[in-house]
Amino acid sequence: SNKAVLGPLVGAVDQGTSSTRFLVFNSKTAELLSHHQVEIKQKFPREGWVEQDPREILHSVYECIEKTCEKLGQLNIDISNIKAIGVSNQRETTVVWDKLTGEPLYNAVVWLDLRTQSTVESLRKRIPRSNNFVKSKTGLPLSTYFSAVKLRWLLDNVRKVQKAVEEKRALFGTIDSWLIWSLTGGVNGGVHHTDVTNASRTMLFNIHSLEWDKELCEFFGIPMEMLPNVRSSSEIYGLMKAGALEGVPISGCLGDQSAALVGQMCFQNGQAKNTYGTGCFLLCNTGHTCVFSDHGLLTTVAYKLGRDKPVHYALEGSVAIAGAVIRWLRDNLGIIKTSEEIEKLAKEVGTSYDCYFVPAFSGLYAPYWEPSARGIICGLTQFTNKCHIAFAALEAVCFQTREILDAMNRDCGIPLSHLQVDGGMTSNKILMQLQADILYIPVLKSLMPETTALGAAMAAGAAEGVGVWSLEPEDLSTIMMERFEPQINAEESEIRYSTWKKAVMKSVGWVT
Ligand code: G3P
Repeated sequence: SNKAVLGPLVGAVDQGTSSTRFLVFNSKTAELLSHHQVEIKQKFPREGWVEQDPREILHSVYECIEKTCEKLGQLNIDISNIKAIGVSNQRETTVVWDKLTGEPLYNAVVWLDLRTQSTVESLRKRIPRSNNFVKSKTGLPLSTYFSAVKLRWLLDNVRKVQKAVEEKRALFGTIDSWLIWSLTGGVNGGVHHTDVTNASRTMLFNIHSLEWDKELCEFFGIPMEMLPNVRSSSEIYGLMKAGALEGVPISGCLGDQSAALVGQMCFQNGQAKNTYGTGCFLLCNTGHTCVFSDHGLLTTVAYKLGRDKPVHYALEGSVAIAGAVIRWLRDNLGIIKTSEEIEKLAKEVGTSYDCYFVPAFSGLYAPYWEPSARGIICGLTQFTNKCHIAFAALEAVCFQTREILDAMNRDCGIPLSHLQVDGGMTSNKILMQLQADILYIPVLKSLMPETTALGAAMAAGAAEGVGVWSLEPEDLSTIMMERFEPQINAEESEIRYSTWKKAVMKSVGWVT
C-alpha cells in the first residue's frame, strides 16, 4: 500500500456534556485528519436532576477511538503514527467508583444538576462572612455547580457509596479521572490522576498551593483518600491498556474550557476565548496571578503545561445553558428535528419580535449565581411563532455572553477589543452575527472549531518524554479566523440588551 508519509500524530478525547469525540491531529501542522463523534444520553430522573452513565461515557470513548482509527485506515494513514493522547472533558461532573470491581457506584452527577441546592444553603451558613475561606482558597462561589457538594450528596444518600468509603474501596473523580483510570487499565493497574485545571473545579483544591486542601475537605466532610493525585496538564500519566491504540501514552489532561484556551493559543495575559458548547464559557488568561472578581466571575486554573512549568490562571464567566437550549427545543418541544435546523427557523423571521427567552434551566450562573431562577419565555403575542422563539433562543446565548463580557471588562479594567470564539454552535452564522451586534465588538471565529480537542492534543504532544509538539511561540501555527462585525447601530443594541435584563429579573426567584 502507499501509506501517506506524515509527521507524528496526536489524538485527543473531547468528552463533553452532550457528546464524546476523538480527533487526530498532525503535530506539525495542527491539521485535523479524522474524527468520530457519539452523542451522550442525559437522564433527568427528577426536576433539576441531571445524570449520565459513566460506563456509557467510557464506551463512547472507546467507540470514537476505534471508529477514528478505522477512518484513518481508509485514508491510508498508519495509526502507529499516533504518539500520544490528550484528554479534555466536561468539568465538575462527579463519579464515584469501586477500585476493586471498577463498577461506578452511582450515575455521574452532571455539573448542571441542582439536587444540592439545600446542601449549599446550609453550608453557606457555616462560612463566616468576614472570612470566606472557600472563595479565597478555591476562587469559586459556593454553588451547586462544583464537585464537592455533589460528592457530599453521594456520601449522604447512596448506601453503596457509604459502604465502599467505609471499606476504603471508593474512588472519586471528575470525568478526566474516571477515563484516565479506566483507559490505563482500571482494576488492572489504572492510575488515579487528575490535572490542576480539573482539580480547581472541585472546590476541594487550593489554587495557590496547587494541592488538595485539608480544611476544605473537612468543611465538606470528604475523605481525602478518595481523591485522585493531582498532576500538571502535560506529562505522561500512563499508557492505553486496550483497543486500537494500546500502549500509546496518555500525556495531556485539561478541563475542556482550559483546553479551548490553549487550542485558541491564548497564552498571553489578557487573551480570552468564548466556547459555545452545552454551556458557554468565557475565559481570560490572567498569567501567573490569581485575579479575584468583584463581578461574579470565577478564578480558576487555566493550565500548567508540564511538571516544572509555571501555572497560569484565568478569570471565567460561566453560562450554564447555551447549546442545551437548542437541544431542549429539539428534544422537549420538538420544534426542530436536528440542531442545525434552528438556523433556518431563525433566518425565516430575522427577529424575535420582542420575545425574550431566559433559559435558566439550572438557575443562573455568572454573573448572577441565582439558583432560584428558572427558564421563562416572555413578550408573547398571538403573532409569536416557533421561528421567533428559535430566534429568541439564539439571542439568549448572545445576551448571556454580553453579560459575562461586561463583567470581564469591569474586572480587568481594559475592555476586550474583540472576542475569539469556538465550539459547535459557531457554525451558525446567524448566531455569530447576532453576537457581534449584541457585544458591539468584532467576533473572530476560528475556522477549525475543534479548538478544545486541539488544546488537549497540544498538551499531550508537548509532554516530556513525548516531545512531538512544540509550544514555542515561533512554532505555533496561527489560527485562521472568520470575522463578524457589528451591523446594527449601538443604540438598538443597547435597547435590546436592557430589555433582556428586564426578562432576567423576571426569571429570578421563581423557586424558593
Ligand atoms: O463546566 C462545564 C463545562 O466544562 C462543560 O462544557 O462544552 O460540555 O458545555 P461543555
